[in-house]
Amino acid sequence: MVRKLIPIFLLFVIYAFRAPGGGEPWKAPRSADALVDPLANDPKAVAKGKKIFESLCWNCHGMGGSGDGPNASVLTVKPADLGSSTVQAQSNGALYWKITHGRGEMASYEQVISREQRWAVAHYIRTFGPAKPK
Ligand code: HEC
Repeated sequence: MVRKLIPIFLLFVIYAFRAPGGGEPWKAPRSADALVDPLANDPKAVAKGKKIFESLCWNCHGMGGSGDGPNASVLTVKPADLGSSTVQAQSNGALYWKITHGRGEMASYEQVISREQRWAVAHYIRTFGPAKPK
């Protein structure tokens, strides 16, 4: 009896915790494109961002950014492939804004890492794109 109820219970849990607005395209406000990138001329930005990504972000986004991290299967909203044209077409400012504010299961990183670190990880996300700046 109890065993039979487990799937129903799980469905309820998934429904209750489903991300608000999940599935709709996530757009940063236009003003994010005009944010001044403090690391624009920092040759170490990518390396700094890589460290952060590989400690805080990979578990959902995957080491290669394609959304296949070990925690991805429990997410209701699958994170976009960070190397895709949809993500790569966004400005560093837009990526920074999303990392800062979060949405649904993607937490806000405003209180977790510094402003510079959030910009650094935006720089690192660029390396998943087709034109890999190495
Ligand atoms: C708990 C899992 C999880 C972790 C950890 C996580 N993310 Fe996400 N991320 C998501 C999900 C889910 C979405 C999609 C959110 C949506 O569209 O509502 C997302 C979306 C994003 C986007 C927006 C992509 C787009 O569609 O434009 C960026 C950028 C991003 N994450 C970067 C990061 C960075 C950088 C970190 C680490 C500092 C991180 N994420 C950590 C789950 C996670």
